[in-house]
Amino acid sequence: TTCILIGAPVDCGKRRLGCLMGPDAFRAARLPEALRSLGHDVIDRGNLRPADHPADADDAFLHKLNETVGWTKTLMQAATQEMAHGLPIFLGGDHALALGTVPGVAAFAKAQGRPQFVLWLDAHTDYHSPQTTGSGNLHGTPVGYFTGRSGFDAFPPPAATVPAENICMIGLRSVDPEERTALDDTPIARHDMREIDERGIARPLQEFLTRVADANGFLHVSLDVDFIDPAHAPGVGTTVPGGATVREAHLVMEMIHDSGLMTSLDVVELNPFLDDRGQTAHLMVDLVASALGRTVFDRPTRGRH
Ligand code: ARG
Ligand code: MN
Ligand code: MN
Ligand code: MN
Repeated sequence: TTCILIGAPVDCGKRRLGCLMGPDAFRAARLPEALRSLGHDVIDRGNLRPADHPADADDAFLHKLNETVGWTKTLMQAATQEMAHGLPIFLGGDHALALGTVPGVAAFAKAQGRPQFVLWLDAHTDYHSPQTTGSGNLHGTPVGYFTGRSGFDAFPPPAATVPAENICMIGLRSVDPEERTALDDTPIARHDMREIDERGIARPLQEFLTRVADANGFLHVSLDVDFIDPAHAPGVGTTVPGGATVREAHLVMEMIHDSGLMTSLDVVELNPFLDDRGQTAHLMVDLVASALGRTVFDRPTRGRH
């Protein structure tokens, strides 16, 4: 696989700063070397910048709306473009970057006549619109945007939307009441931690991967650091206890690899300023390596390659 690393130091999606340093932390934790050691070609595009935008007011309820729109434009275009060259890996940056990456890759899939699917690995659903957010933090809105919710008038229309029935969320344990109500009207598959405790993490994931395979779909994976329990991944602003274990997270990534389905990946919300001697950055690099084929022992794969 040709892995294309795209640094997206988006730090405007919430008020706590630090995700700006994420892309460089992934490099310092040797992500390029990890992927090369698996036999992949790696191209590092360096760090992108937001499109020109008006200055944001400090006291606005919607935090840094203009800068977020600037990033959305840049990333939407970059995502569509890079899909033609390999497997784009977007190094965040906070989750507001998915406002651009997901519509961008979905536009490429659409041009190929293939359906886009999204696996959302997160403690949160990020299903707000700018109208429903209680925090004003736009990293809580990407799924609302790329499913075509109303209220995003300040943004360009998404290059392509993703049908709600093509989205699967795993790891949920912090969902705002407005999100929950709105999600109830959608077929988005949502798997909370209780379900994972009861059924294990492999079953809901395999159900989804089978659907993607049957539809010959493109699969975008969006991995938020807070999917993982903060005991193992402290380098994130929005810690929520009770997350996925290191073993569950690796299993998800290994199954994604075995499926042969992943066509693009976000790794988001790493805040190196809050990390403990690179622990979270290293874990995220190891998880990306699992998604790209690192194994302890090889076993016959059931999926495609
Ligand atoms: N739902 C909360 C909010 O709107 C939290 C969002 C957290 N999102 C994230 N990408 N970490 O503020
Ligand atoms: Mn998120
Ligand atoms: Mn989250
Ligand atoms: Mn392989």
